[in-house]
Amino acid sequence: MKRLGILISGRGSNFEAIAENVASGALGVLGVEIAVVISNRAEARGLEAALARGMNAVCLPSKGLDREVYDRMLVAELHKHDVDLVCLAGFMRLLSAGFIREFPNRILNIHPSLLPAFPGLDAQHQALAHGVKITGCTVHFVDEDLDAGPIVIQAAVPVLDDDTEETLSARILKQEHRIYAEAIGIVIAGKYRVEGRRVLLT
Ligand code: GAR
Repeated sequence: MKRLGILISGRGSNFEAIAENVASGALGVLGVEIAVVISNRAEARGLEAALARGMNAVCLPSKGLDREVYDRMLVAELHKHDVDLVCLAGFMRLLSAGFIREFPNRILNIHPSLLPAFPGLDAQHQALAHGVKITGCTVHFVDEDLDAGPIVIQAAVPVLDDDTEETLSARILKQEHRIYAEAIGIVIAGKYRVEGRRVLLT
């Protein structure tokens, strides 16, 4: 199980961090390949980055399409590229039950908070608004509920008194780039088991 399908909607910095790790880090040593990068938005910067790296980059616009119909298109594209593990990297859409059934325990997501705190949109804004002193990021398996599947890795990030959404997001993003590749490595190497909600490293 080594072929990644990466789904993005925008900037694509998590995709790029994964690509760097595949090119010259632990994921490369494990023989991981990025089979395809798919964006649901044509203007996503990550698509250009994928093309510049000579990767398969596919734009599948989702606007105006029924969720089930769109997800079937996504699934077909991922199977076409023989994808083993799907990585959501700033992919700002909910996945249908049909999609999730196609890749059981083989979809990962990164979220910029310590889940279950602050799911959904604008997690960094939510953290500042709530006044927490520590937030962070989470890589988790995707199930049918929003930002809710079993957690593979988390990293904590302190909230500083003079933080703005931008400065806090930037510090969280650094940790996202580190833990996403690490989580993918654990899953690809099969060095884990899932017991209920817990992902235990083996
Ligand atoms: C990242 O901070 C990611 O955690 C977040 O979107 C950003 C995408 O950045 N995802 C979510 O909020 C999902 N609920 P990127 O396109 O540069 O990787």
